[in-house]
Amino acid sequence: MIKILAIESSCDDTSAAVLWDQTVKSNLIYNQSIHEQYGGVVPEAASREHIKNILPVIDAALKKADTSLQELDAIAYTQSPGLIGSLLVGAHTAKSLSQVLNIPLLAVQHLQAHILSCLIEEPRPNFPFLCLTVSGGHTQLVLCHSASKMEVIGETQDDAAGEAFDKTAKLFGLKYPGGPLVDKYAKEGNPTAFEFAKPKAEGLNFSFSGLKTSVLYFLQKEMRKDDQFIKNNLHDLCASVQKTIVDILLSNLEKAVTHTKVTNVCVAGGVSANSELRQRFENLGKEKNWNTYVPKFEYCTDNAAMIGIVGYYNYLDKDFASFDTPTEARSKF
Ligand code: KG4
Ligand code: ZN
Repeated sequence: MIKILAIESSCDDTSAAVLWDQTVKSNLIYNQSIHEQYGGVVPEAASREHIKNILPVIDAALKKADTSLQELDAIAYTQSPGLIGSLLVGAHTAKSLSQVLNIPLLAVQHLQAHILSCLIEEPRPNFPFLCLTVSGGHTQLVLCHSASKMEVIGETQDDAAGEAFDKTAKLFGLKYPGGPLVDKYAKEGNPTAFEFAKPKAEGLNFSFSGLKTSVLYFLQKEMRKDDQFIKNNLHDLCASVQKTIVDILLSNLEKAVTHTKVTNVCVAGGVSANSELRQRFENLGKEKNWNTYVPKFEYCTDNAAMIGIVGYYNYLDKDFASFDTPTEARSKF
């Protein structure tokens, strides 16, 4: 059995997990609330919070897994992409632990980790599978041939789906990150109350920036007539925006299945926590006879367990990193 400590610090969540092979023994996430007041993640503040929290989170994850540093076989960490200052905190912690303990270091690509979060628990999709990865920074359609061979067949040309949620939520006066709040308010709203633009993109690509502009112009027009418009229509606004985003995502996913003929289909990344996306994806899968997979909630948004699962596959492949492995804000995927 391989015991891995995994660390994730690519953005504003500090997370540590312990895995015994593919089994998650602990997965602790410290969310940084400091960013709420600024309406978005402040990179410098995120790095400082990671520095404060990373050792206590690791300590707590080891305790919860009832293990210790001395029992570990390897350290996995997020190498790219992300905020460089945030990534460096996790990378240097992982590198130091690997040197001190004299155990292998496993460098993990964050987007690959979101995709392989579908493999953390049963039922696991067989390869090849198609994954719609929807997070705050990325929106991609990926054809996964194996745990290490992945092909991007479509991606956003501008904003990511999570950004579309967060930016429209900000227009509604909601706190950052707005995605979960839109989801919450949409539950009591009418999804067909308002119609917003569904921007077009070539092939299997996505576009969301036109949606944000369409919402902005609509709100400006309505607020001139009634300055309480947003307050009085918040639930319907959230439900209508959410429906538009989910429509765009699922219509492209359907095209991708037709194009690839791959019917093992996953949705992963922070936005896969969205209740409407999860429900409509399940329904579409049943209707089309796909095998559908969505990670459980704690593995959707950024977490170290998903870093650990990629680390596990890297370990089996003897794909080890070194102290010189660069940390990269951007990475080709
Ligand atoms: O994967 P993630 O935790 O971080 C990145 O790698 O970006 O995704 C964060 C994104 C944010 O944009 C957040 O608003 C969105 O996921 N999100 C949601 C929900 N939960 C998180 N969006 C819509 N509905 C949700 N329930
Ligand atoms: Zn992420």
